[in-house]
Amino acid sequence: MGSRRGCEDLIRAKRVRVNGEIAELGSKVDPTTDIITVDGKRITFPQKHTYVLLYKPQGVVSTVKDPQGRPKVIDLVSIPGVRLFPVGRLDYQTSGLLLLTDDGELTYLLTHPKFGVWKTYHAFVQGTPSQEALKRMREGLPLEDGRTSPARVRLVGKGHQKNSILEISLHEGRKRQVRRMCEFIGHPVLELERKRFAFLNLGGLQSGEYRFLSPDEVHRLKKLALGDQGGRKPHLSRENKQ
Ligand code: URA
Repeated sequence: MGSRRGCEDLIRAKRVRVNGEIAELGSKVDPTTDIITVDGKRITFPQKHTYVLLYKPQGVVSTVKDPQGRPKVIDLVSIPGVRLFPVGRLDYQTSGLLLLTDDGELTYLLTHPKFGVWKTYHAFVQGTPSQEALKRMREGLPLEDGRTSPARVRLVGKGHQKNSILEISLHEGRKRQVRRMCEFIGHPVLELERKRFAFLNLGGLQSGEYRFLSPDEVHRLKKLALGDQGGRKPHLSRENKQ
């Protein structure tokens, strides 16, 4: 916006606001999470990090290394000079929305169980679970690594033959959790796809394609991860609405 002196003049003239409050000289801001306006117009900054939303295909590992030499998600997104890491994992045979970034802090926030970002899956399962089985999934199942937290589960369609499609939203991220939950109720998963991660969805992407997150999406993700509620009750948060 100008030289240091010039910017100080803007601040003194009360033309600068941070999150709606008039800025003061010397106050600290985080340009990636704070909304800074000059004369009511938001100013943006070049991003320090790279954030990618990938439609992960089946048959690709989410780990950065694979001793078995299978295809890796990071090979699908090659950006010169940038080392990306997946935000959490999807199983080898699970497809769907996977974020990749070189921002370790955001990865930590989004994957830590206490922040509990909601993730939504479509599971093609064998047979059709009863209403009672769906209720048990919603209320929590006693898996071998402990009881699952309340989940949102609904039957959204019929697959081939007598199979069905469940929509399952979780704010936990345990290993193979959806597959283990479905197995537990006696309806093993035939195919699994992650449809949403917090407010993000696959949009018009085809399997194997990716796009960059916008600064606004990154801002919303950070706000969500750091939100007042610490992510513990994300269903109450507007940002985390599914
Ligand atoms: N649950 C699973 O079982 N697998 C995944 O890849 C993600 C969630």
